[in-house]
This record gives sequence, C-alpha cells and structure tokens, in this order.
Amino acid sequence: MKRPVAYIAGTGHAVPRRVVTNDDIAAMGLDTNDAWIVERTGIRQRHLAAPDETLTSLAAQASRQAMEQAGVLPGEIDVIVLGTASPDHLLPATAVEVQAALGCSRAAAFDLGAACSGWLYSAIVAESLIAGGSADTVLVIGAEKLSSIVNWKDRNTCVLFGDGAGATVLRRARGGHRGILSSYMRSDGALTQLLWRPAGGNVEPLSPEVMAEGRHCIQMAGREVFKHAVRSMAEATDRALDAARLTANDIDLLIPHQANVRIIDATAKHAGIPPERVFVNVDRYGNTSAATIPIALNEAIQQGRVKEGSTVLFAAFGAGFTWGSLVVRF
Ligand SMILES: CC(C)(COP(=O)(O)OP(=O)(O)OC[C@H]1O[C@@H](n2cnc3c(N)ncnc32)[C@H](O)[C@@H]1OP(=O)(O)O)[C@@H](O)C(=O)NCCC(=O)NCCS
Repeated sequence: MKRPVAYIAGTGHAVPRRVVTNDDIAAMGLDTNDAWIVERTGIRQRHLAAPDETLTSLAAQASRQAMEQAGVLPGEIDVIVLGTASPDHLLPATAVEVQAALGCSRAAAFDLGAACSGWLYSAIVAESLIAGGSADTVLVIGAEKLSSIVNWKDRNTCVLFGDGAGATVLRRARGGHRGILSSYMRSDGALTQLLWRPAGGNVEPLSPEVMAEGRHCIQMAGREVFKHAVRSMAEATDRALDAARLTANDIDLLIPHQANVRIIDATAKHAGIPPERVFVNVDRYGNTSAATIPIALNEAIQQGRVKEGSTVLFAAFGAGFTWGSLVVRF
C-alpha cells in the first residue's frame, strides 16, 4: 500500500458537565487522597457523566464538531467505527445509535473492542477500508462511559478512570504528503485477567451475587499492567517510527494514551522525545480509555500544538492486552 491513503480531516471532543476532583472521591468515603493520586498517576480530576449523558450523546457531540471542522455532511459519511469498552447497550452496537443521532443515512456502523487502544485500532481499520475502496470518508470515534463499569468501592481502579468522547474524520488522501505515514498494532490475550471485567458476559452472567461483589466491574492488577504498558508503548513507538523511516527528531508531538503520567514519561524517554513535545491532559480527564487520544488530539489542535505540516506520533496500550502506534502528518 502506497501511503498516505487517508488523512485526518477534522477532530472534535466532548466531556460530561460534572467535574469530580480527587478530594471529591476521597469525600465519598474511600481510603484515598489527592496527594497519593497525583503522585502515582498525575490525575487531578475527571469528568463523570450524568444519566442523560449517554455514550451515544457524547460521541455524537464530538462527531458533530469533527464533521463540521472537516466540512463533511452527515450523508457523506460512509462508515462509522466506534472504539469503546462501555457501550450504551450490549446489543446493538453504539455506533449504530450514533449513526441515527447524526443522520448519517448512508453509513455502515460498528463498534470495535480494543479497550484503550480502541481509537488507534479503529483509525487503522478506517484507513484499510479506504485503501480497499469500501469507503472514502470514515468517522472514527473513541468514546467511553467508564463510570458505569467502575467499582466505586475499589480505590485501586475508580480513581483512575473518566468519561468522554473524541472523534476524527478520516478521508481519502488525494496526493500530497498529509495523512497516515505508518501504523503498528499487536495483541496478547494470554494475560487477560490482569485487566478485565470477570463477570457479566457469557461465562459468568450477571446475577445478584456478581453485582454484590462488583465482579461485573473493571478489575486490574495495577503494578503488572504498568510494566506491560511501559514495555509495549516503547515497542510501539519504535515500530511506527521505523516503518515511517523517521526518528524522534522528526516528531513534532507525541500523543500517547493517557492512563498515568509515569507511563507517558517512560514512553517519551524511551522514544527520545523531550517533555515539551509530549501532550499530557491526564491531569484533567483521568483515563478515558479509547477516548484519550482523540480528545488529546483535538485539544492539541485547538492549542496550536498540531498544525499543518506537523508530524505526530500516537501510541496506545489497553486491556487485552492490545497496543499500537501511528505516525500521522497533518
Ligand atoms: C494503579 C497504579 C496507579 C498504582 O500505582 P503503583 O505505584 O503501581 O502502586 P502499587 O500498586 O504499588 O500500590 C501501592 C499502594 O497504594 C495502595 N493504593 C492503591 N490505590 C490507592 C488509592 N487510590 N489511594 C491510596 N492508596 C492506594 C495500594 O493498596 C498499595 O498499598 P500496599 O503497598 O499497602 O499494598 C499504577 O500501577 C498504574 O497506573 N497501573 C497501570 C494502570 C493503567 O495504565 N491501566 C490502564 C491501562 S490502559
């Protein structure tokens, strides 16, 4: 495939109205405090959705911005790919509800399950659909309402996550140098139990016992996940740079998955990218899983840190495990 095949024509993001600080979480009766959370994760606050702020409504809000910025009408979207681990319903895909909310009358729509790598995987799938001739314009969304699947009694996990949505419009590149220059994605399902929801699916359906024990919520072996995240994100940045035949010096901005500022720092250090060329907003949103990268990208564009000609390295890691990377020229 001769790249670039697809470029990012527009971006948008949406987060819930309510901001919850670390002190607010401690005030919920949990044995935690602001100093611990900031020191170990870099997180200071997160946005948590109200019942009327559904995954569909957040994703649609982010998508409208992205489509407006791209100058694309709803009827021009060929496919909607929504990376998420927290759909509004188990059936059908939330992407279909987004399709209806936006009035994308011609669009195919499906969800993609790759946890925190969800947007990155979705962008690579979108590029492939464009390369294969199935689509010219693809709406690629990363969106989560993790507050619905977090155990609010478990301090090991609940302080880490937040809700939000980010959207991007990918379009067929017609000559020029703008677009996806390289990509990389991998998985390792041997370690699923380090970060998962043990019950609530087919193997152990929802029951009063499951609900009482919170076994339908996210469980994580934080220290183990941390090690794998650092290793895999480092590998991912190496592979995407190699494939694009670029070095760290060519990268204007690293936009990594936002789970923990210490993982971000380790990734940047490995890649040889100085802090001033690394985007961080985990302090304000926590880990919004599939949504972190497209939210960060939209903010980076709004802040003028990504502009025409910028070369951006993206790296993601999530439950599965899944991980991957992209180099994109804007
Ligand atoms: C979860 C994470 C922040 C924990 O940080 P850590 O430095 O590894 O901390 P540890 O697991 O070593 O735990 C240290 C202590 O803090 C305690 N602790 C855990 N959560 C706490 C909280 N919210 N408040 C206060 N103390 C807490 C632990 O119980 C442990 O106590 P112990 O030493 O008495 O057993 C970190 O491991 C992490 O970010 N992991 C990866 C998370 C991630 O990226 N997940 C998503 C992947 S996409």
